[in-house]
Amino acid sequence: MMKQIAVLFIVFILSVFITVSFGFRTANKNIGNVVSLNIENANTGQKIPATMHGVILETNVNRDDDGGLYAELIYNRAFQENNRSLDGWSTFGQGSINLNISQPLTSALPAQLRYSLITNSTSVSGIRNSGYYGINLQAQNYTASFFYRSLPGVYVPGGKLNVGFSDSTGQIIYGISTLDISKAPINIWFYYSFDIIVFSAAPSTKNFFFIEFPLGSKGEFEFNLISCFPPTYKNRPNGARFDLAQTFADLKPGFIRLPGGNDLEGPSIPERFIWNNTVGHLENRPGRRGTWAGYNTEGFGLIELITFAEDIGAVPILAVYAGYSLDGKAVPQDQLQPYIDEVVKELDFLTASANDNRMGALRKQLGRSEPFDIRYVEIGNEDWLGAAINTYDYRWTTFYNVLSKRYPNITFIATTAKTINSPPAVDDHFYQVPLFFIENFRRYENVPRSGPRVLIGEFAVINDDDSQITNPFGPGRLVYPSIKSAIAESVYRIGFERNSDIIIGGCYAPILQNIDNTQWTPSFIVFNTSSVIKSTSYLAQKMFGENLGNLILYSAATNNTITHQSVEKGQEGDGKLGNLYFIATKRTNDNTLIVKLVNVDPTDILINAQIQGSTTSSTGVAYILTAGSGVDPSTVQNTMLNPNAASITEQSVSARNGTWSITVPSWSVVVVTLTL
Ligand SMILES: *[C@@H]1O[C@H](CO)[C@@H](O)[C@H](O)[C@H]1NC(C)=O
Ligand SMILES: *[C@@H]1O[C@H](CO)[C@@H](O)[C@H](O)[C@H]1NC(C)=O
Ligand SMILES: *[C@@H]1O[C@H](CO)[C@@H](O)[C@H](O)[C@H]1NC(C)=O
Ligand SMILES: *[C@@H]1O[C@H](CO)[C@@H](O)[C@H](O)[C@H]1NC(C)=O
Ligand SMILES: *[C@@H]1O[C@H](CO)[C@@H](O)[C@H](O)[C@H]1NC(C)=O
Ligand SMILES: *[C@@H]1O[C@H](CO)[C@@H](O)[C@H](O)[C@H]1NC(C)=O
Ligand SMILES: *[C@@H]1O[C@H](CO)[C@@H](O)[C@H](O)[C@H]1NC(C)=O
Ligand SMILES: *[C@@H]1O[C@H](CO)[C@@H](O)[C@H](O)[C@H]1NC(C)=O
Ligand SMILES: *[C@@H]1O[C@H](CO)[C@@H](O)[C@H](O)[C@H]1NC(C)=O
Repeated sequence: MMKQIAVLFIVFILSVFITVSFGFRTANKNIGNVVSLNIENANTGQKIPATMHGVILETNVNRDDDGGLYAELIYNRAFQENNRSLDGWSTFGQGSINLNISQPLTSALPAQLRYSLITNSTSVSGIRNSGYYGINLQAQNYTASFFYRSLPGVYVPGGKLNVGFSDSTGQIIYGISTLDISKAPINIWFYYSFDIIVFSAAPSTKNFFFIEFPLGSKGEFEFNLISCFPPTYKNRPNGARFDLAQTFADLKPGFIRLPGGNDLEGPSIPERFIWNNTVGHLENRPGRRGTWAGYNTEGFGLIELITFAEDIGAVPILAVYAGYSLDGKAVPQDQLQPYIDEVVKELDFLTASANDNRMGALRKQLGRSEPFDIRYVEIGNEDWLGAAINTYDYRWTTFYNVLSKRYPNITFIATTAKTINSPPAVDDHFYQVPLFFIENFRRYENVPRSGPRVLIGEFAVINDDDSQITNPFGPGRLVYPSIKSAIAESVYRIGFERNSDIIIGGCYAPILQNIDNTQWTPSFIVFNTSSVIKSTSYLAQKMFGENLGNLILYSAATNNTITHQSVEKGQEGDGKLGNLYFIATKRTNDNTLIVKLVNVDPTDILINAQIQGSTTSSTGVAYILTAGSGVDPSTVQNTMLNPNAASITEQSVSARNGTWSITVPSWSVVVVTLTL
């Protein structure tokens, strides 16, 4: 996303501005056009890569990893927030807390919490944490851990602490564990890890995690890296929040672009994404000031990110730092070498053999012996924006020359082709109004095939008001995607599939939005501490991701007055008839026909389809996303208060002797799947 938007760069608006008026009529049967769709079955043709519909995980924006996808429940676990603070921590009973920096746990975590009881406590007392925006407690097993240090002269009757969860009053205990600290050596950091079993779910998320000292305790006690995880996705230690990870996986994303986004660049050069600070033991990860929100612990670091990509079945598109940060400073050309070395180490770390490469061996030492499968690497982020464009020429060239020689099997993606010579691939970003995506349906047909392949690394309707096409960041900025947004994005996505000879894939951005700490709307998946909302845009992509063909079938639509037999390129047909957009594809492994149809007309369109030369009789399913007859599609949004305003409906489709019919409602996306 564009962190430094001072001026909006609209470079891509086509010269022809077509005025389309979209009315919303009320009628039950409102069929305007009757369209014949002819589909040629074949086993050869243009291939669609499995990466076609992906996601981005731009770390830090909207508190999407810390406080979001990263399952850690303890906020400010190592006192890094707000430039070193006790934010989120408080005491109960007696005693006081402050930060101390003498004898730190590690140089990466230089400050620890010191809990002081000056006189013997006369009530149970201790420290507690309120979580990122509360703590979601379900009946399950939680894994807690911390580093602990006793100062000389401490006294804890019985030598045991209670650690657990309570409600906001501290009166109701949802789970508790007793921890024997009697053997903890004085003055030495000691690590504890233990389970807390919660037996019944808490009705609210206003809960505390607490560490409680028994009555009569006295002295000074230090803690650092106080951590607690619920069960994670695929049970990964230090892993992902289950419901959010599942929501990603349900999309069947072809790729995942990570770690940014602007967070790759960081607020300044020293605050960039430095891969080796994000791997290994958590106590050795310093984290850095967040680019968008709060502190970035980097607990969900490079290995966690790429493992997450594997776990959700997505090809990682790894972005590497290219010598430019968001304060507008670029590394001078003659000082780039150490930054290139850093990226070489990163790519070796991910892809080299553990047997004959130092970085590969380090990866094995950290628990992963097999190399990761890295096929795409993007050099930089949005280097068309701000001062970045002035230096991208030498930064790209210098990085690319070294990296492309060393990693011949990786496709390197440039963030802009404006100032550089024919990169292998380029990343296009668009935040726009629906009309823009509809009018630009043919954008990628007009891109020269001799030029770079294309990743649409970020795109989204951010404003439903088409009159804001020259100023989409202006009035009318969406809070949530609408049906209208999702439909327009789907038109664009059909354009991606039709041009899959040069398109690697496309992804909506940003994906995650923590409702309690938002810097950017609209987003694909909106969540709070306990719930996940799937936006209309999410639902539309899910229909595309779950139903992805690997081959384009020639198809052409005709009605009484217009015959769209003209084939502009390849053999995939025209893809458009009036306000109907379509593509016919095939999934060859199970011989399934997949037809995607998007209607942006104020009337319904009846499709009579014929599979040429087919006598197939089978029953398939049509997946439909629409606002409903007569409803303005921009008013239908899945929101926190109305999470299920829109949903995918299913309808059966019967093919007889190779023919079938379906009504594609006004402002809808329909995906038909049929066994051929
Ligand atoms: C953090 O605090 C230190 C001193 O306490 C100060 O020098 C530094 O500028 C602060 N950093 C930020 C980002 O506020
Ligand atoms: C930190 O700890 C040292 C050693 O115990 C002590 O001398 C110092 O006063 C402490 N500082 C603060 C700010 O509490
Ligand atoms: C709780 O989880 C931990 C770590 O996953 C596991 O070792 C332990 O056996 C579990 N305990 C129970 C009671 O399920
Ligand atoms: C108070 O703490 C001291 C250690 O500082 C201990 O020796 C003593 O027994 C404690 N008294 C009570 C009443 O717990
Ligand atoms: C990471 O690598 C850089 C050099 O690229 C080095 O300065 C830094 O100390 C390393 N950090 C860790 C935690 O190893
Ligand atoms: C590139 O891929 C080919 C084919 O899979 C493989 O033989 C070769 O070792 C790879 N080269 C590198 C540098 O990874
Ligand atoms: C055929 O489609 C075109 C383009 O949408 C439209 O203008 C025309 O009215 C349609 N004809 C009929 C008979 O539906
Ligand atoms: C989280 O979102 C859900 C669904 O909208 C809502 O029911 C719940 O009250 C929200 N929780 C909080 C703490 O706001
Ligand atoms: C099936 O369709 C073909 C044309 O595709 C036609 O020639 C044939 O007569 C049809 N058979 C039946 C039983 O309708």
